[in-house]
Amino acid sequence: MIKNEEHILREFGQEKWGGLLTKWENAPCGVNDVRNWECPPDFLHACLVKNRLMLMSTSESFDYYINLIEQALLDGCSRHLVEIGCGYGSVLFNLIGRRRLTYESVTGLEYTQQGIELAQNLAKWHDYDVTIGKGDFGARNISDLAIKPGSDFLTSYALHYMRDSALALRNLIRLKPRRVLHFEPIFQHCDEQTVLGILQQRYMRINDYNLSIRKELEKLANSGEIEIIKEIPVIFGANCLLPASLLVWSPTS
Ligand SMILES: C[S@@+](CC[C@H](N)C(=O)[O-])C[C@H]1O[C@@H](n2cnc3c(N)ncnc32)[C@H](O)[C@@H]1O
Repeated sequence: MIKNEEHILREFGQEKWGGLLTKWENAPCGVNDVRNWECPPDFLHACLVKNRLMLMSTSESFDYYINLIEQALLDGCSRHLVEIGCGYGSVLFNLIGRRRLTYESVTGLEYTQQGIELAQNLAKWHDYDVTIGKGDFGARNISDLAIKPGSDFLTSYALHYMRDSALALRNLIRLKPRRVLHFEPIFQHCDEQTVLGILQQRYMRINDYNLSIRKELEKLANSGEIEIIKEIPVIFGANCLLPASLLVWSPTS
């Protein structure tokens, strides 16, 4: 399965976000109702919590994940938040809905037109003060929207769809973030001494997810362009075969 542009436009544009958008247009509702269409809230699945397998319902695992992201963002918030690859905004709108983050502005950038449209509809439905627009890790300026230098950038299960993570990271540095927080699967963090770690690596290979995010960050850190501030391997996986690690970095100049 090759994760090229065509695949992403089909998987998210036509199928996932496109299907949810059509459903939403027939029955407008809030973001958590849309999430429930995507994955039934009581559905039990094997999650990875502190490297232990745990059975959790979809709603429990999502709450757990949002808590982790919220805690990481609260630890030294800047004035502006930008999520890249925000889909229809399930993470972003849940963070906003909790009202604990104090950003002056929040922006969600998404690659697919259907994701953008659904996120814009949901922002209006909730009356959230958030800007939604087109964003592409692979584009030189990532977005045509004006992004404020000094913003916090968040990626959640989005950068790993990008084939060329070196290009994406360079484009991110050009936007002069204050810090970048990645909740992304990191191939090198899977423990090859365990069956589960081997299966995770296999899962990432079969699905053609990016395997070099950590290596590219290390290169940039070694050349002095960025500083890696925090690294928590395998922080959580709603899917135990695809857990996210947390990596936080800042450009050095
Ligand atoms: C698995 S979804 C994650 C959505 C959201 N961040 C979350 O955690 O629920 C991956 C998202 O990344 C987006 N994406 C894929 N390639 C991208 C790119 N080159 N630039 C920006 N977003 C991209 C997809 O369109 C999709 O919405």
